[in-house]
Amino acid sequence: MFQHIAVLGAGVMGHGIAQLFAQAKKDVQLYDMYPSSLEKAKKSIKNSISMLIEKGLLTKEEGEQSLNRIHFTTELPTALKQAELIIEAIPEVIEMKWEMYQKIEELVGSEVIIASNTSAFPLTLLHEHSKYPERFIIMHFFNPAQLVPLVEIVKVDVTNEQIVNAIEKLMFEVGKSPVVLQKEVPGFIANRLQFAVIREALWLFENNVASAEDIDIAMKESLGFRYAFIGPLESMDFGGLDTMDYICNNLLPKLSDVKETPHALQTLVEKGKLGVKTGEGFYTYDGEKAVEKIKKRDDLFVELLKLKS
Ligand SMILES: NC(=O)c1ccc[n+]([C@@H]2O[C@H](COP(=O)([O-])OP(=O)(O)OC[C@H]3O[C@@H](n4cnc5c(N)ncnc54)[C@H](O)[C@@H]3O)[C@@H](O)[C@H]2O)c1
Repeated sequence: MFQHIAVLGAGVMGHGIAQLFAQAKKDVQLYDMYPSSLEKAKKSIKNSISMLIEKGLLTKEEGEQSLNRIHFTTELPTALKQAELIIEAIPEVIEMKWEMYQKIEELVGSEVIIASNTSAFPLTLLHEHSKYPERFIIMHFFNPAQLVPLVEIVKVDVTNEQIVNAIEKLMFEVGKSPVVLQKEVPGFIANRLQFAVIREALWLFENNVASAEDIDIAMKESLGFRYAFIGPLESMDFGGLDTMDYICNNLLPKLSDVKETPHALQTLVEKGKLGVKTGEGFYTYDGEKAVEKIKKRDDLFVELLKLKS
């Protein structure tokens, strides 16, 4: 099952998801409405595959074959023609996603599975206008999708349980670590954890407690160091739950509880400073520096993957 997969949206996430399946010998259609996005995606996939070849994780031949299994297209009907599984990775705007699902449902049969890589929309909202809500599922990958192991799978009461099982099996088959949520919550598991951290990091930054560099060092040299192998709940067991209880009582009332995008982030976005993709965010990435940074990050992630396996 699942030999033909369509990935819709060839941005930060879509290109990595396409690469992942191509490396797992699936035939992949990667669709985007902009040819420039597809060109950028192809370049990123080539860079990533070259790095995996350099690291000895793919042979040159396997790398070439993987790239050849990805068909880049701006034609939605072409992308969907043979698809058994469609993974939507277009921007996180609900109206755009609804419009896309409507087009998909006009083009494919009711047996085709539609998955979204949404970061936080509930599944019930995503399939609100759909003819066949039972074939919708959330497959939430992490950037870079071809390397980070976790995939969160979200289902609701109406979801066909056979589809949930098949998607979980597929994720194991392509080397991922899937987790199926028992209940629908905004942000799923990992983004609730991530954005709790992000809210606090931005609070520290805005209140000049430390520089961006030092906030990042504090994370990388403590929690990040631990969390690749020991989760937050296990970590509490190691620390002693009585001590954790004291700290919760003392510290939780002092933590940030902002309910909107914090000012520091809002200001950068308004200035068009979107991070690596525009060359500046909390840090600057001039010229080739962005490509180098991504290469270095993925290089280290590959080493971590080796260590974890
Ligand atoms: N960036 C992340 O770290 C991350 C992680 C997990 C999940 N997600 C989710 O994945 C989805 C995609 O995010 P991203 O970061 O890849 O976004 P992105 O902006 O990098 O890419 C989106 C792509 O979709 C294309 N696009 C826009 N409208 C389209 C349409 N109607 N039809 C086809 N293509 C269209 C754009 O040209 C672009 O290439 C979002 O739902 C996001 O929340 C993102």
